[in-house]
Amino acid sequence: MCGIVGYIGSREAYPVVLKGLKRLEYRGYDSAGVALLNHGMKVYKKKGKVAQLEEEVIGKDIQSNIGIGHTRWATHGEPSDRNAHPHVSNNGKLAMIHNGIIENYVSIKNELLKKGYTFKSDTDTEVLLNFIGDIKTNNECSLEEAVRIALKRVVGAYVILLIDEDTPDTIIAARKGSPLVIGIGKNEHFLASDASPIIEYTKEVVYVNDYELAIVKADELILKNLGNEKITPYVQKLDLELAAIEKGGYDHFMIKEINEQPHTIYDCLRGRLDPVAGTITMAGVQNNIEQLKNAQRIVMIACGTSWHAGLVAEYVFEELCRIPVEVEYASEFRYRNPVINKGDVIIAISQSGETADTIVAIDKAKEQGAFIFGVVNVVGSSIARLSHAGAYTHAGPEIGVASTKAFTAQLAVLTMVALKIALEKGTITHDRYMHLLNELHEIPDKVKLLLEDAENVKAIGLKYKDAGDFLYLGRGYNFPVALEGALKLKEISYIHAEGYPAAEMKHGPIALVDEKLPVVFVATKDAYYDKIVSNIQEIKARKGQVIAVITENDETIPTMSNDIMFVPEADEIVAPMLSVIPLQLLSYYIGVAKGLDVDKPRNLAKSVTVE
Ligand code: F6R
Repeated sequence: MCGIVGYIGSREAYPVVLKGLKRLEYRGYDSAGVALLNHGMKVYKKKGKVAQLEEEVIGKDIQSNIGIGHTRWATHGEPSDRNAHPHVSNNGKLAMIHNGIIENYVSIKNELLKKGYTFKSDTDTEVLLNFIGDIKTNNECSLEEAVRIALKRVVGAYVILLIDEDTPDTIIAARKGSPLVIGIGKNEHFLASDASPIIEYTKEVVYVNDYELAIVKADELILKNLGNEKITPYVQKLDLELAAIEKGGYDHFMIKEINEQPHTIYDCLRGRLDPVAGTITMAGVQNNIEQLKNAQRIVMIACGTSWHAGLVAEYVFEELCRIPVEVEYASEFRYRNPVINKGDVIIAISQSGETADTIVAIDKAKEQGAFIFGVVNVVGSSIARLSHAGAYTHAGPEIGVASTKAFTAQLAVLTMVALKIALEKGTITHDRYMHLLNELHEIPDKVKLLLEDAENVKAIGLKYKDAGDFLYLGRGYNFPVALEGALKLKEISYIHAEGYPAAEMKHGPIALVDEKLPVVFVATKDAYYDKIVSNIQEIKARKGQVIAVITENDETIPTMSNDIMFVPEADEIVAPMLSVIPLQLLSYYIGVAKGLDVDKPRNLAKSVTVE
């Protein structure tokens, strides 16, 4: 949520910053801007996407070896030129970009107003910037010192990057609660919200921690805490290739990522699952097996699509491990004084590892003594580091704002964790365990097979693209898949869609059904099959348009459906990894047919780093 980039070194800063902003645009695209220093401060900013900024800057003076840039997801103040970052201090000397929220900005603003400061924007960022500038002037101190003093007063979350006309050889950066990576080059440094703007220049990076301040020059990186003590930077090697963050011939990242799923699920299982030896190797589980298998309760906390993965996992864990599971929206969990008992295990699920609601929920659970197991995609992210133990999903960078491949990888990891606990606990028979290992092992090939049906799904998408509403229904393991299908359609096509347990439909939503309403049934062959066939009949009797995701060779449901999408046969425990994929494709093709920007749907951002 908001992308930040900075560069200092011997290259021209503007092209590096601009390219970085394009890579980070998935984090927000309400406005974009850059600040450059070369005999004075130059700031260019524009409402809209980075491409609009690029146009705005044509013909302008961009010569500089130091620059900062921002792509915004609006929190304080509407998307507009004047609310775009970077902001400039009243004396014109400082420029700053910010990702996060300053919660106590109103009281600070009132103090500054009394001192005669004026504000051009509605943002909390401009307030913090002038607060820093005010401290610097009054205390006659360095920018670094002023930032340190200011941040001690600040309540909220931030990554800030500042440049100063008085010290044109330095970028000052600080973080609390929002991510910051610094790439180390030869006499140059790169700063960004994640590694994607950095990867083509260097693989050596430092992840800045909360309450740390970085003083960055071309040839020097100094890290300090807010108490002005130096910290030795921990330099890590990036395990990321440039190709992984490019479109690779696809029209959109979303369709690339949908198509990557045979590989991403395989990568997730690789080195862990051995169906011949009958083993699952996961150090995070093995090293904490007593804690996990003796859990009195498991609470899954997550948001959005990751929350849907938690819902599927609830069914899997209860069935296989016989441990009660609750699935909580992280944002609700945090603020309703949850009861956490000794022996409770929290499983925090997150693609980005930076979702603010999930982070604060983890903090709350940790305070109360819970054991946190993280299921995270982004290596080295905040949630990965906050967890006591965990397992990465290894899906690779997910750039399309709508989550696809991360979801199936989360399901693969969670299923392996459940199987491992169940085996240790003795709640699964050896035969069933071996069968499920094989079923998991076969998923990548089955995904490959079902992706061959994409043209059929596209045709269905074209047929229904003008519908005003959709209903998605499923039962058991496929109920969360119905929720996920509805979420994908809303995000990508802006069509209103609701997911519901198929049987619950009789208790209200059935009133919506008429001959215009497309109803998507996730109706693969499982323990609920006969029941869901009855639910399809109920919709048919009311003339609803039935679109069904079914198991290949099913001869019953096609006779009562308008349109059919097939998935290969699979055990119900692993089936959601298959049945969700036609729904991802359906939303993609409808979004494209409507001419929408499927990689950057309106109002959304990947990595929601504000509460
Ligand atoms: C939906 C989507 C969001 C995220 C949610 C959680 O397509 O992408 O609903 O799933 O914001 O994000 P993570 O998993 O990064 O914590």
